[in-house]
Amino acid sequence: MQDSIFTVLSQRQLTQTVYELKLRGDTSAITRPGQFVNLRLDGLYLRRPISVCDLEGDTLTLIYKVVGKGTQALSEMQPGQTVPVLTGLGNGYDTGLSGDRPLLIGGGVGVPPLYLLAKRLRAEGKQVSVILGFNTASELFYEQEFLALGCKVAITTVDGSRGVKGFVTDALPENYTHVYTCGPEPMLRAVYRAISTGGSFSFEKRMGCGFGACMGCSCKTITGYKRICKEGPVLQKEEILWED
Ligand SMILES: Cc1cc2nc3c(=O)[nH]c(=O)nc-3n(C[C@H](O)[C@H](O)[C@H](O)COP(=O)(O)OP(=O)(O)OC[C@H]3O[C@@H](n4cnc5c(N)ncnc54)[C@H](O)[C@@H]3O)c2cc1C
Ligand code: FES
Repeated sequence: MQDSIFTVLSQRQLTQTVYELKLRGDTSAITRPGQFVNLRLDGLYLRRPISVCDLEGDTLTLIYKVVGKGTQALSEMQPGQTVPVLTGLGNGYDTGLSGDRPLLIGGGVGVPPLYLLAKRLRAEGKQVSVILGFNTASELFYEQEFLALGCKVAITTVDGSRGVKGFVTDALPENYTHVYTCGPEPMLRAVYRAISTGGSFSFEKRMGCGFGACMGCSCKTITGYKRICKEGPVLQKEEILWED
């Protein structure tokens, strides 16, 4: 984990509520796709966790949805402004589990961490299929970016305005070797029930410290309590214990 100052390079609006932010700084503590960073924003006591979407040298890309004060403040940041960021948080995805034909499933703002994962898997020569699920066509982002990596991309929308009408589980392909997923918990539960292989599931919890000190993000698993910020956010299918 590292605490350092990042400088805003660019800010791009992707949909009505979702933004892509590029920052420059010391990214050396980020070791795996699926890890997250924690941003300290002016006037807010708790840092805000956001997944690493992409990494190129010292340039870090984040994609976030404006849902409250913190993400609103983030969307108002201009190029040249600086922000303190904790980097290298969480366990991230293990590309070693992928097999030859990994399937990546993202829902809404669960899509961002799958981009760096797809990039790394493509660099390893894997045949990568991606399912991107949204409520409606106007919420869709990053389809072209995944296609440009050479991934096979399927889109689902709940209202049928783009791609397959329904949920991500309505677009599962025949053959895949491992599933990597991130999205809202009801989606993760549906994916858990639907897939026929092992899977790596990324969970979101409200966080306090973000680096393992406060226990605020603990959740019960088959192998005991785990801190989502430290031993997660990625849990393997066989260790997940769904609490009702
Ligand atoms: C490991 C991790 C990775 C994340 N990655 C991303 C990402 O890549 N892109 C993205 O858009 N968001 C991501 N989030 C969620 C993001 O952290 C929250 O949306 C953000 O902290 C909200 O801050 P706020 O001040 O804008 O909203 P707040 O005013 O704090 O809350 C507004 C609303 O958002 C909900 N909310 C706040 N924090 C969370 C949370 N951690 N999980 C679920 N709901 C929350 C609240 O319940 C409330 O309804 C991630 C969360 C975690 C834990
Ligand atoms: S948020 Fe403090 S231990 Fe996870």
